[in-house]
Amino acid sequence: MAEKYYISTAIAYTSSKPHIGNTYEAVLADAIARFKRLKGYDVYFQTGTDEHGIKIEEKAKEASISPKDYVDKIYLEIKNTWDLMNVSYDRFVRTTDSNHVGVVQHIFKKMYDQGDIYKGEYKGLYCTPCESFWTKSQLVDGKCPDCSREVSEQVEEAYFFRLSKYQDRLEKYIASHDDFIYPESRKNEMINNFIKPGLEDLCVSRTSVKWGIPVDFDPNHVVYVWLDALTNYITNIGYDVDNESFEFKKRWPADLHLVGKDIIRFHSIYWPCFLWSLGLELPKKIFGHPWLLMNSDKMSKSKGNVLYASSLVEQFGVDAIRYYLLHEIPFNSDGNITYDLIIERINSDLANVLGNLVQRTISMGNKYFAGKITNSKVSEDIDLAFIGSINNLEDVVTNKMDQLHVSDAITEIFNVLRRSNKYIDDTEPWVLAKSEDNKERLQTVLYNLLESIRICGVLLEPFLPDTSKEILSQINISDVSLEYVDNNIYNLCQPQPLFKRIDKIS
Ligand code: MSP
Repeated sequence: MAEKYYISTAIAYTSSKPHIGNTYEAVLADAIARFKRLKGYDVYFQTGTDEHGIKIEEKAKEASISPKDYVDKIYLEIKNTWDLMNVSYDRFVRTTDSNHVGVVQHIFKKMYDQGDIYKGEYKGLYCTPCESFWTKSQLVDGKCPDCSREVSEQVEEAYFFRLSKYQDRLEKYIASHDDFIYPESRKNEMINNFIKPGLEDLCVSRTSVKWGIPVDFDPNHVVYVWLDALTNYITNIGYDVDNESFEFKKRWPADLHLVGKDIIRFHSIYWPCFLWSLGLELPKKIFGHPWLLMNSDKMSKSKGNVLYASSLVEQFGVDAIRYYLLHEIPFNSDGNITYDLIIERINSDLANVLGNLVQRTISMGNKYFAGKITNSKVSEDIDLAFIGSINNLEDVVTNKMDQLHVSDAITEIFNVLRRSNKYIDDTEPWVLAKSEDNKERLQTVLYNLLESIRICGVLLEPFLPDTSKEILSQINISDVSLEYVDNNIYNLCQPQPLFKRIDKIS
């Protein structure tokens, strides 16, 4: 039976339309999920939307619509964006879904009944017109950061989760599970900045927020958004307290929670303690991916430097943007996006290296052999190393993907594509074509190139799914094995350019 693989993204806030940074996470998860499927895993890929909280309540008020109407609209924009980018999720979940709401209420009650949640007092700096609590460091010039009015110290009745109880257990767990928080730099940051200084009990209910899941046994309170949001990873695969479904038993624990570096704290500190409170296992790995910056700066609406998938795709196409996102963001440090860089990558990698190779090879196959290529097996020394690099590619790419070095995995495929172009330059098929005596050698050269294109084409599927399909259809082949074979028969179609070169946008 195929090994299971459960991968999730963070669920995106439905406070506003997702920008290309949020979209990056979905595309990154998609590449990993697709790669695992290619390797034969039974993949379950979950993504979705985080729809409660004060911010959304306020946005809905500004738009003069109900919070539910507001989130319905943004949820669709997020889902459409994921669909536009070919994100192959198995389930798109929402925290307003009635099953999720019910199970969160059961979870809250269970934690309360067993003493992990208790009623206490929340003390903070309160802005009455905004109905919001702030910490001292959030204030701007000592005033409310939203409306700039005075704040006052106030006390609110609230429920607390006994995070402090799990301090030792968490420290020990992280120390003995090297792969739990990934990469290493994030793990050290969590230990030194958050866990070592001491975990304080966490306020897990609000009376000042209305748009949330009510605590059913004390309905003045709504459940804190992070308790609501984090549990999405179990409520949507059939978990309920004292009633774990077959699906839940099969899928849990998750193999990978993919989240941005800003929220790894919630996933590696709160989430494990919530799970322990429920008596559940922890996810195997939490990967805090870096961020995408615009012109080396944080994207923000107020700075006016936000890019959206829809307009980028309109200008450059889905796979060009997928390539850019997956290739340009190293796994351990932030990446940058600008129009100039996108154009440079499309021209140099996608059009020159990949597009040219496919077009040149198919054109020569059509010209010299009327599109029908088999292997006439007239080999030369140069072929050996070339075929060796093609045959190694699956292992090399798998190794990179196992470490979640997605950008490096793509680079490895492009190295073989570059090498294939070099093989053309070295073997000079147009010279071979001049003499009838070299016809069989010429056919072997083209055959080797087609095998390289075929294997790279299959391996590109997780990253550039449409392009992969297009390549395989242009060389008209159904063999999707990842090894060089010597008895394929190619019936080539007319080459269509995969990527057009783009002139600089002035
Ligand atoms: N709703 C919470 C997550 C709850 S998960 C139980 C949230 N939502 S978010 O919409 O603000 O962010 C969704 C994801 O996008 C997060 O993982 C976040 O780190 C990521 N990104 C937000 N901006 C980003 C970039 N500029 N670049 C890359 N990822 C970015 O947080």
